[in-house]
Amino acid sequence: MEQKTKIKGKVHYVGVNDRTKHLFEGLWPLPYGVSYNSYLIDDEKVALVDTVDICYFEVFLHKIRSVIGDRPIDYLIINHMEPDHSGSLSLIKQHYPNIIIVGNKQTFGMVEGFYGITGEQYLIANGDSLDLGYHKLTFYLTPMVHWPETMMTFDETEGIIFSGDGFGAFGTLDGGFMDTRLNTDIFWQEMIRYYSNIVGKYGSAVQKALEKLAPLSITTICSTHGPVWIEQKDRVIDIYDRMSRYEGEEGVVIVYGTMYGNTEQMAEAIALELSVQGIKNIVLHNVNKRHPSYIIADIFKYKGLIIGSATYCNELYPEIDSLLSKILTRDMKNRYLGYFGSFCWSSAALRHMHTFAEKSKFELVGIPVDMKISMSDQTYDECEALGLAMAERLKQDR
Ligand SMILES: Cc1cc2nc3c(=O)[nH]c(=O)nc-3n(C[C@H](O)[C@H](O)[C@H](O)COP(=O)(O)O)c2cc1C
Ligand SMILES: [Fe+2]
Ligand SMILES: [Fe+2]
Repeated sequence: MEQKTKIKGKVHYVGVNDRTKHLFEGLWPLPYGVSYNSYLIDDEKVALVDTVDICYFEVFLHKIRSVIGDRPIDYLIINHMEPDHSGSLSLIKQHYPNIIIVGNKQTFGMVEGFYGITGEQYLIANGDSLDLGYHKLTFYLTPMVHWPETMMTFDETEGIIFSGDGFGAFGTLDGGFMDTRLNTDIFWQEMIRYYSNIVGKYGSAVQKALEKLAPLSITTICSTHGPVWIEQKDRVIDIYDRMSRYEGEEGVVIVYGTMYGNTEQMAEAIALELSVQGIKNIVLHNVNKRHPSYIIADIFKYKGLIIGSATYCNELYPEIDSLLSKILTRDMKNRYLGYFGSFCWSSAALRHMHTFAEKSKFELVGIPVDMKISMSDQTYDECEALGLAMAERLKQDR
């Protein structure tokens, strides 16, 4: 068992898989589940890096014991206090009463607040080290990735970064837990969806964290969600770097809210023109059908965004309204925005879209299109012109 859980040196994987939960944070669907990763360093001094969701404590404890038997754990290093990782803290403390919690000055208030645990603290500051015998750990404070206490722990000996939620992805680890032992196909899209929805607002904090990590010789990424990355670590770092700079690929997301399909026909006309103009990455999302987490992920992926809404009780279509608020919350930048609306007796959606466009940090492209009731020759022409303007703007960046 012990060797099967080994990553490198004396570091073992002791995380668990959640295939039961429907919504992560009560919000985000988990079609492939999620893993809560924890790592055990079986050195002269034994250290546990993060814990797991409390529902999985028994499985977790069994995994720990199959590595260290009856030996005590000396340190619990807390990179992140969100309960998907700290949930087993109280029970770990009950089973290992002499364990010393390692955290930074933001950590311990949360340890007490969530679990009522006070007692001995091993308080670290940025750059401090902890020698376990073979492994030598250094701590890097990375606040707001995506909570204030978040930090990363670097193992100087083997080049392993224990990165907390940084570099995380949705998806369970079925069999293998390292990219060298598992098919990683599902994780790339799930990484973008994880990042854009959970961490997306904190791009500048992620950039600061990446700057701190840049001088380190990283061989292995041990995040708290998704695979341990060895062979494909550079691709993972590159994805997090590009997403945290809000850098999109050439492509357009067209998202629309419709009741009877007329507004959808505007989206189709715009999409057709984009493709005629040579844009291949075009994704149409009906906001009613697609969960917003997938739409947000695609908006992080592509540089072009075109939003359409039917007028609803003198307002935006409700689900479009909600999506716009999610976009603003994430403080997104570097997008080209086009928009369109429809109405039957008195136009309102377009006006509200205009307010959104002003609040956003996006570059407006093309002339917004408003449609009365259904498609006319003029609407087709206007939609075509909007598609053309977006295509031309995107092609300027080639
Ligand atoms: C519940 C409801 C509320 C509506 N409110 C308005 C409104 O306030 N002003 C208006 O001009 N049209 C209103 N409409 C009409 C739609 O905005 C209009 O028919 C639109 O073109 C529908 O687009 P769709 O075919 O894509 O659903 C409303 C329709 C419904 C069903
Ligand atoms: Fe988190
Ligand atoms: Fe997490």
